[in-house]
Amino acid sequence: MREINHPEESVHEENSAGVTTIGVVGAGLMGAGIAQVAAAAGFTVLIHDSVEGAFARAKESIEGRYRHLQAKGRMEAAAVEDALGRLAEASCVEDLAGCDAVIEAVIEDLAVKQDVFERLGRVVGDHTILATNTSALPITDIAARCCRPGQVVGMHFFSPVPVMRLCEVVRGYRTTDAVLQAAVDLAHRLGKETIVVSRDDAGFVTSRLMTVLVQEAARIVEEGLATPEDVDRACELGFGHRMGPLATTDLTGVDVAYRAGRSIFEATGDPTFRPPQILRRMVAAGALGRKSGEGFYQHDRERG
Ligand SMILES: NC(=O)c1ccc[n+]([C@@H]2O[C@H](COP(=O)([O-])OP(=O)(O)OC[C@H]3O[C@@H](n4cnc5c(N)ncnc54)[C@H](O)[C@@H]3O)[C@@H](O)[C@H]2O)c1
Repeated sequence: MREINHPEESVHEENSAGVTTIGVVGAGLMGAGIAQVAAAAGFTVLIHDSVEGAFARAKESIEGRYRHLQAKGRMEAAAVEDALGRLAEASCVEDLAGCDAVIEAVIEDLAVKQDVFERLGRVVGDHTILATNTSALPITDIAARCCRPGQVVGMHFFSPVPVMRLCEVVRGYRTTDAVLQAAVDLAHRLGKETIVVSRDDAGFVTSRLMTVLVQEAARIVEEGLATPEDVDRACELGFGHRMGPLATTDLTGVDVAYRAGRSIFEATGDPTFRPPQILRRMVAAGALGRKSGEGFYQHDRERG
């Protein structure tokens, strides 16, 4: 259910229907995925990344995925060309001034994100949706140095963006109702389903739920109660999860899961989110999951 009300409300009439041009800041895993779905949905997409060559790499990976869809008969050749033609590079954040919506997907670092939104705030229009794809940082903190905090909203996509159907839309303290609704509408136009989180409490909904499941799964293994394989099988076969929590942790990174839990624990002081020692020890030992070849599973051999 959507909860859209706020005392700080300053109503703009905007909604995403007028959005034709989307800016994406950060051309990494998530930025490239967001750009891919946005261009395929008919939006003109301007992408800025601070690292030289990042745009070219993102465009190449997007083209590879479009060609894959084309080969499977799920995208017409003309649609691939059209979508690729709608992707362009922006050399700086300020070049996104004319965008109707900007989705930020830079690294998960508060100071870096604050800088992006401070600069965007100075140049965009009153109608521009300023969205952040942060996994867990408070939207209010990200908007703190932006002169347009009412226009800043969380749009949390999931990896891989073209596949995962959810966009978690998160309201910051000053996010207006109109911008929250515009973000929901925009997510729908990008082919996503939404949930609305009415406050930017640590971890929102999804990271909070996932943290509890992953940490409890890790504790069960730490206590010797069951193997990682059996914990994952319990969730897959008993609960219908597509992938168990420990296999998922190996995929996204044991370090990422550890940090997510630690940041929610630090923000709330709630012992529910205190990371188990096993995660800390695995991170210290460099057992980070697939990226290091070893986590809860060995990745150089078949999962047992
Ligand atoms: N990876 C995931 O599964 C996932 C899922 C949901 C949300 N997120 C969030 O999305 C964001 C991006 O994650 P990612 O996995 O794509 O990271 P990534 O490291 O793949 O990409 C980040 C990109 O941002 C660029 N960048 C860094 N500082 C910049 C700046 N000041 N201006 C412009 N570009 C800059 C980097 O060069 C890099 O290309 C993070 O906030 C992350 O928490 C990630």
